[in-house]
Amino acid sequence: MLELNKEKMPNHVAFIIDGNGRWAKLRNKQRTEGHKAGVEAVKNIIDVAKELGIKICSFFVFSTENWKRPKSEVDAIMKMLKDFLKSNKNKYEKENIKLTTMGNLQQLDNDIVKEILEIKEKTKNNKGLIVNICINYGGRSEIINAVNNIIKDKLTEVDENTFNNYLFSSQIPDPDLIIRTSGEYRLSNFMLWQCAYSELYFTKILWPDFGRDELIDAIYDYQNRERRFGKV
Ligand code: IPE
Ligand code: MG
Repeated sequence: MLELNKEKMPNHVAFIIDGNGRWAKLRNKQRTEGHKAGVEAVKNIIDVAKELGIKICSFFVFSTENWKRPKSEVDAIMKMLKDFLKSNKNKYEKENIKLTTMGNLQQLDNDIVKEILEIKEKTKNNKGLIVNICINYGGRSEIINAVNNIIKDKLTEVDENTFNNYLFSSQIPDPDLIIRTSGEYRLSNFMLWQCAYSELYFTKILWPDFGRDELIDAIYDYQNRERRFGKV
């Protein structure tokens, strides 16, 4: 078993969840079964992240582009996310987990928005692990939204800090490590501003199969990289 360096744990790990559909197909199951297994993997990774002492975990669960999927699949994903939030709000409140979101909530159905607001409210004073759910999130749309709000506020000039305050992630530090599963080597519009100095880790493992051992492998790889941030 790989030995992790407790002193060099990534503060913020972001996950681009991918491969639920292929996981299901390999088992001759419906795509929604893959998403169901994917939600279980998210729950498990949250427990593992807590155990390992990671401070923030982001999960890209639904992108602004995912609306182009068949309505039945979109509805099934939304229902699973809603049930996930509903069934975990008391657990996360007790376990000192704070739930935050990134993404435009206005286009979501009222019933899921209600669950999001409720769990956020319940966990807002928690100081432990931050679970950041990126839902109806797109990096470009986040940047455009920031620009439009800057214009509305009549600012004539901004610096990086001010700009950051207009992003969904204003309260969350940039990810140290971005992990994408399923063997795809791209960011797909995820955290375009925030990824400037993130370490990227790609694995062929399909998201439902991504568990404790796979996360430890990824962090081990991260810990053996040299982050220079432009310095020598
Ligand atoms: C990721 O798995 C889940 C979401 C984007 C919600 P996919 O559904 O993209 O799985 P593949 O890529 O079809 O295997
Ligand atoms: Mg995919």
